[in-house]
Amino acid sequence: MILTTLLLLSFQLLGRAEAFVQRPWDESYALANAKVAQMTIDEKVGILTGVGQFNSRCVGDTHPVDRLGIPAICFQDGPAGLRLVKGVTGFPSGINTASTFSRRLMRARGVALGEESRGKGVNVFLGPAMDIMRNPKAGRGWESFGPDPFLTGEGAYETIVGVQSTGVQGCAKHFVGNNQEHWRYGVTADFDERTMREVYGWPFLRSVEADVSSVMCAYNRVNGTSSCGNADLLGPNGFLRENGFKGFVVSDWGATHDTAKDVANAGLDMEQPGDWIVIGGGDFNDLISGLKPAVNNGDVSIDRLDEMVGRVLAAFYHLGQDSGFPAVNFDAQQPSTPTALARRTSMSRLEFVVPPVDALTAENAGAGAAALATSLSNDLDAGASAARDRDVAVVFANAMSGELGFYDVVVGNMGDRNDLDLWFKGGSLIERVAAVCNNTIVVIHSVGPVFMPWSSHPNITAIVYAGAPGEMTGPSLVDVLYGRYNPRGRLPFSIADKETDFGTSIVYDSLTGFPEINYTEKLLLDYRYMDANGITPRFEFGFGLSYTTFVYSGPLSIVSSASGARAVTFTVANSGDVPGTEIAQLYLGFPAGAGEPKRVLRGFEEVALGVGESRSVTIMLGQRDVSIWDVVRHAWVVPPGTFTVTVGASINDVRLTGTF
Ligand code: BGC
Repeated sequence: MILTTLLLLSFQLLGRAEAFVQRPWDESYALANAKVAQMTIDEKVGILTGVGQFNSRCVGDTHPVDRLGIPAICFQDGPAGLRLVKGVTGFPSGINTASTFSRRLMRARGVALGEESRGKGVNVFLGPAMDIMRNPKAGRGWESFGPDPFLTGEGAYETIVGVQSTGVQGCAKHFVGNNQEHWRYGVTADFDERTMREVYGWPFLRSVEADVSSVMCAYNRVNGTSSCGNADLLGPNGFLRENGFKGFVVSDWGATHDTAKDVANAGLDMEQPGDWIVIGGGDFNDLISGLKPAVNNGDVSIDRLDEMVGRVLAAFYHLGQDSGFPAVNFDAQQPSTPTALARRTSMSRLEFVVPPVDALTAENAGAGAAALATSLSNDLDAGASAARDRDVAVVFANAMSGELGFYDVVVGNMGDRNDLDLWFKGGSLIERVAAVCNNTIVVIHSVGPVFMPWSSHPNITAIVYAGAPGEMTGPSLVDVLYGRYNPRGRLPFSIADKETDFGTSIVYDSLTGFPEINYTEKLLLDYRYMDANGITPRFEFGFGLSYTTFVYSGPLSIVSSASGARAVTFTVANSGDVPGTEIAQLYLGFPAGAGEPKRVLRGFEEVALGVGESRSVTIMLGQRDVSIWDVVRHAWVVPPGTFTVTVGASINDVRLTGTF
């Protein structure tokens, strides 16, 4: 049996234009502050507030200051391509990007997202999303990079570097604890300092390290305080600034739940979109009408106002958007072909999608080709009868989810999934087809883990986990099925048999209004929880197959440097018959007593190898990779004792072990 994850990259990776060189922050601030000094209060407030979602050509626009040559700044979603824009690419989702375990491909996707944004005149690309998939049913989990903080952090880092290399601003979202759709406008996500640093905040820390120019605060509250009015997160001594963030904080669309005085003084710099009243606690979007009076009566100081504007303009100058940046050339109010399907499938329109059935049909056109029979309904009898006595049957089953409120109440699922079953009786269809065809290939399109009780059925010869792919899903799948492309993706989450195996849940119902969700599992998500509870998943984190095989050889060399970094070196060889790429993964076991999960992902490397070829691979462990967040010292600290390093093809397929 083959189970593999499939990455559907729908763009060319090579031959990109030279990376854009960013202007240093100090020069950018000097330019910004020179403009701020010439502005009236109304002009400043105009830069800090949106023009109104339905008045804007982009999903968000600031007010221009024409007399000073400052244009409207255009914000557009993100994160898997440009939403509500015609003629653009529907990129693979974040979760499929995570399944590459490839910084090279993460970066390349970021560059392509940036180039398309720039071409359309988008100043701020509203992505990447980096909310941890705390529970696999979380509606928007697939927009991000899964349940593992390290993998999510690398996805966030590379995407931002890629996007910003084109002169487009990235926007790290949604800060923070935006982990379910039900009650999202006011739910409070309650977690402790260590959980924040090591899990939910980690990708945002990596975003700051990637020099992200903007961060979007979330709809929800954190430990009882709204994300966009939370000085612990946004303030001068809060998480972002303390870690060196130099850009500006923008609210999620309608996430400003407190008064202008409160949010401005807490560290929010910009309110978007400027005209929404959403269901949430307190005053709404009060910056629009409330900021000027708050400045006039001294509740918000002129210095703070100037700082807010300075940050927004500095980001604009930092990315060089003051010269040669294309004008907006689309209208998000007039998107073409506004079909419900496109809205529901993705954060982009998938205007050019090539479905698998079309690609398979094209592959089998002409003389001597296989005779295809299709069943395109969800009818189980029709599916089984199309498959009966065929040489091979390919069964497609799916599970979707998305954003609450506007697009995604589908088949009774309101954003978050109701369960981990395949939709439209997909599991039953698979079993019915497998009963009548002894060469059944299952293709799963899903936003995250699904139950696969049928996976060991003797007639199921392959399972392709295609995830939530981009527009070239059909041709990519054909390439894999026909052996022209050797799969190399890995599961960015575990696939288990019971919801309780994941250790967290979605709060759907609350009789008392916005619920309080206590993240009592702390650091133990996905494989970490399973490890702690002796649960063996059906398919483990990091698992995936190839048409070739790989051999690891050691001994594992672990060399420490004076800086506290460690280089872990080993050799991988392709021992099979076709070229392929191995995803070597490094898991770290902390010393007993450090309070860490049994094993945590701390490194990965793609190793492309020809037949018979072998290569020495080095994975670096930095000082922070071997640290825990010490809540007494409020700092990263390396715990004393012996660390265990395992290297292998998945978390459970361990090939080499060492200690230091
Ligand atoms: C979403 C954000 C998005 C914004 C603008 C909000 O509803 O949560 O992710 O960027 O809308 O479209």
